[in-house]
Amino acid sequence: MTLTEEILRLKKEKNAVILAHNYQPEEIQRLADYTGDSLELAIRAKDAKEDIIVFCGVLFMAETAKILNPGKKVILPVKEAGCPLADYLTPEMVIDARKKYPGAQVVLYVNSSAESKAEADITCTSANAVSVVASLESDTILFGPDSNLASWVQEQIPDKKIIPLPKGGHCPVHQAFTEEMAEKFRGEGYMTVCHPECPKAVRDRCDLVASTGGMVKNAFKSDKWIVLTEKDMVYRLKTEFPLKEFKGFETAVCEDMKLITPKILKKALLDEKPEITLPEDIMKRAGKAIEKMIALSR
Ligand code: 13P
Ligand code: SF4
Repeated sequence: MTLTEEILRLKKEKNAVILAHNYQPEEIQRLADYTGDSLELAIRAKDAKEDIIVFCGVLFMAETAKILNPGKKVILPVKEAGCPLADYLTPEMVIDARKKYPGAQVVLYVNSSAESKAEADITCTSANAVSVVASLESDTILFGPDSNLASWVQEQIPDKKIIPLPKGGHCPVHQAFTEEMAEKFRGEGYMTVCHPECPKAVRDRCDLVASTGGMVKNAFKSDKWIVLTEKDMVYRLKTEFPLKEFKGFETAVCEDMKLITPKILKKALLDEKPEITLPEDIMKRAGKAIEKMIALSR
C-alpha cells in the first residue's frame, strides 16, 4: 500500500475528516477532504459529523475546531505548529485594555490563543473582520492581535475608533512583503491581491485585499494574478483555476504551516493524537465569542 492509500484507509476506518488550511504544503492539500481559509474550515469543523477531525493547520485553528465541536476528537498532527502573530497577545493584555477603555468592545482575530479569546466579546477572521466590527454597538473597538488587519478595518469603517491590541502585533510572513513586490509586475496585465495582514503601504499598491478564501472567490476577476500571501496559496488557486496564471513569492513561507508531512499525518491518524484538549471554562467563554462570529457569518 502506498502512503496515500494507507492514509485514506485509516481515514475511512476511523471515520475521520481531514481539513487543511490554504497554506498547507501541496502534498497535504491533495490528501485533504476540505481546503479553505480559517472561517471556512471553522464552519466545516462545526458541522462535522465524523468522529475525528484531523486539522492540518496551526494550533489556533485546531483549538477553534474543538471549541465549535467539543464532542469530536480534534487532532493537530504536529502540536508545536503555532502562529507567531497569536503569540503577541495574552489574556492579561485584554483584561488590562478593558480597564483602560471601559465601554470598548473587544474583537479578537481568530489568530489568538483560546485563553485570549475567552476575554473577547467576539472573534473575527480576515474574511469577516469588517462585518464583525460594523455589527458592534460600541464606537470604540479594541482589536488584536494583528495591527495591520486593525488598520485595514479602520480604513473600511472610519466612523469607529479602532485601537490595536497590542500596538505593532503582526504576522512575520505578511510583514515582509514590500511595496516593490506589489509593484513588480505592474503594467504586465496582472491584477494584484494581498492579504489584509500586509502593511498598509503594500495594501495601498494592490488591486484587491482579501482573505485566502476571498482570493479564491475573486479569482474570476482576472486571468493573471500576483498573490501576496503565503506561497502555497498559489497551489490552491492553481488547483481551482488551472487555466489562470498565479504568481506568488517563494520567500513567503509560514514555517509553522509546513510542519505536517504525509508521514506525520498518517501517524496522527493511526495514534489519534496529538489531541486538542482545553479547560472547560476556556471552552465555554471562548466558545461564546466564536459562536457570535459564526452566527454573523453563515
Ligand atoms: P485566512 O483566514 O485568510 O486563511 O488567513 C489565515 C492566516 O493565518 C493568514 O496568515
Ligand atoms: Fe500565523 Fe502568519 Fe502563519 Fe498565518 S501566515 S498562521 S498569521 S504566522
